[in-house]
Amino acid sequence: MNVLVIGNGGREHAVVQALHKSPKVDKIYAMKGNAGIASVAELIDVDYCDVKAVGDWVDAHKDVAFTVVTPDDPLALGLVDELESRGHRAFGPNKRAAIIEASKAFSKELMKKYGIPTAKYETFSSYEEGAKYLESCAIPVVLKADGLALGKGVLICKTREEAKAGLKEMMLDKKFGSAGAKVVVEEFLEGPEVSCLAFTDGKTIKPMITSCDHKRALDNDEGLNTGGMGTFSPAPFFGEKSAKEVMEKIMLPTMSAMNAEGRPFKGVLYFGLMKTRDGYKVIEYNSRFGDPETQVILPMLKTDLMEIFEAIVDERLEEVEIEWESGACVCLVLASGGYPEKYEKGKEITFGDLEKDVVIYHAGTAKKDGKLVTSGGRVLGVVAKGDSIEAARKKVYAAAEKIHFDGMYYRKDIGIKYRDIAKE
Ligand code: AMP
Ligand code: GLY
Repeated sequence: MNVLVIGNGGREHAVVQALHKSPKVDKIYAMKGNAGIASVAELIDVDYCDVKAVGDWVDAHKDVAFTVVTPDDPLALGLVDELESRGHRAFGPNKRAAIIEASKAFSKELMKKYGIPTAKYETFSSYEEGAKYLESCAIPVVLKADGLALGKGVLICKTREEAKAGLKEMMLDKKFGSAGAKVVVEEFLEGPEVSCLAFTDGKTIKPMITSCDHKRALDNDEGLNTGGMGTFSPAPFFGEKSAKEVMEKIMLPTMSAMNAEGRPFKGVLYFGLMKTRDGYKVIEYNSRFGDPETQVILPMLKTDLMEIFEAIVDERLEEVEIEWESGACVCLVLASGGYPEKYEKGKEITFGDLEKDVVIYHAGTAKKDGKLVTSGGRVLGVVAKGDSIEAARKKVYAAAEKIHFDGMYYRKDIGIKYRDIAKE
């Protein structure tokens, strides 16, 4: 069958590669894709946040039997609803379910109502009330813009002054636009973090292998928050006891809660968790594959991804046995100088002789006059598997030294954190 994949980042390159391996998939279209995705898919230049335009394109391309929607904004805008209403098959949550990521106020309320462990919080729609609360709340405190803010709407404030300035930026100066009209103010938690992604059709939920992201731009988790500078899988501290706790206290209750709210979730549900002294707590939900988590998860998937997608749409995920490779996988992001703030584009990218078992997922790349050039902040994901995280780590760093573009920078410590924490 022919498949359309919505999105243009490293995550989508990993999804497209996994679908390319599927015997069920003939041709892949990518909207909008990037220079790496172009090697296995035909790129379609339509704005995927214009849900009507995407619907029209799919209507007009009768050979497309299935659409995979990966990014958060078209999900929140109801692209899956639009496609389904026109009689097309599409993978991803509908608008009512995608709210679990699109509104932090919604997700916090859901967790409170159904007893799912998370940080204590208050939600404010008035700046004055929020500022008053900040006068006496515990410090550090965490501020979260309610809506989608490209992963940048979270402020960890170590002082009361910082918190008040942050609240003002979000609510009065509208730094994140309407996403900051409501702000969640929550308790600061401490502990190692793990991304637990799961496939779900609303009846069954099947976890993927775990992974750990690195959100800050610089080594030792310093610098600004980014979309993610690297990942590794699995989380070294996450054993069977953790898996059982997360399934029983978080994953199953979340699936049931969404059903009880009349918002059954079908797609990939991403649980950003922190292992605190009081057990695992939800830091965030995402309604989709993570980026760059997907780049270390899908290379380890033995089962046909297209088979899983179809089973979810048909609500028969229970029948599919999902198998994973053992060992580890690491993804190192090569970024443009200046990212996540201002950076230049259009720098030529060159590769030396890379080892065969290193995979490059493109994120911000384009072709210009026949040359491969940078076109975004996160440019490439260098990915390798190994018997251990350390073995995979050595391979990606050896490969990174052979890749060049002006201004390129990357973290030197991907794959190191948490290695001394005992497994449970
Ligand atoms: P988010 O965009 O919700 O993933 O938040 C970005 C990062 O902020 C998370 O990965 C955590 O490292 C941190 N964070 C979010 N909420 C809290 C919290 N309540 N306590 C401590 N750190 C937090
Ligand atoms: N890596 C975090 C995210 O995809 O939101």
